[in-house]
Amino acid sequence: MSRPGLFITFEGIDGAGKSSHIEGLAAAFRAQGRTVTVSREPGGTPLAEKLRTLVLNDPMDALTESLLIFAARRDHLLNVIEPALARGEVVLCDRFTDATFAYQGAGRGFDLGVLSTLERLAQTGLAPEANLMREPDLTVWFDLAPEVAAERLAGARVPDRFEAQPVEFFRRVAQGYADRAAAAPGRFARLDAAQERHRVWQQLTSVFVRKGWLAIMVATQGGPQ
Ligand code: TYD
Repeated sequence: MSRPGLFITFEGIDGAGKSSHIEGLAAAFRAQGRTVTVSREPGGTPLAEKLRTLVLNDPMDALTESLLIFAARRDHLLNVIEPALARGEVVLCDRFTDATFAYQGAGRGFDLGVLSTLERLAQTGLAPEANLMREPDLTVWFDLAPEVAAERLAGARVPDRFEAQPVEFFRRVAQGYADRAAAAPGRFARLDAAQERHRVWQQLTSVFVRKGWLAIMVATQGGPQ
């Protein structure tokens, strides 16, 4: 019997520690026989990766930025995410539309109504169900105080346009995520990303075990190194 695809996104402010856990989760799913596609936004296709480079490096106004991000998203959905879901795969995506509401909306103060319009345009008409607006089945939110994230990021690497923002920007972004989570509590799983890494991993895997998406043994493993 073919299993339905799963679309899972990972969100949080820069420095919240998503990346290593995404790899760990991909390994856990693969160990249990699932085919996994790991991707990221902005990006995930050759065109979307070009748009990513522009968005992360070139100054631009908030509407231009949002249009480029949603253009990248549509290309990514069309060429990677929807085909993988149609094959019954697990798609793990590092950031998706909640990041646009948090960074462009809450962070930059861009109009949330316009973002909702762009979301509908970019994410509809791709799946076999013509009117479905594609949304994640689950969004894992790595919640971390902006001050702690800033400490973790300090000196780690050359910052991109967003990472170079002051802590006040990340306070707004964090609030943007909190607002998105409050508006869709059934879709969001909040993790306390201030915990030690193995505890975050335990909390993460227990969410998947509770949903019946991973077998129980995974919850007791050490997680990614
Ligand atoms: P990130 O995904 O954290 O990648 P890396 O770990 O390589 O820095 O960085 C992408 C940046 O893009 C991050 O600062 C958030 C920003 N971003 C937006 O502003 N809007 C969006 O819609 C998305 C997906 C990302």
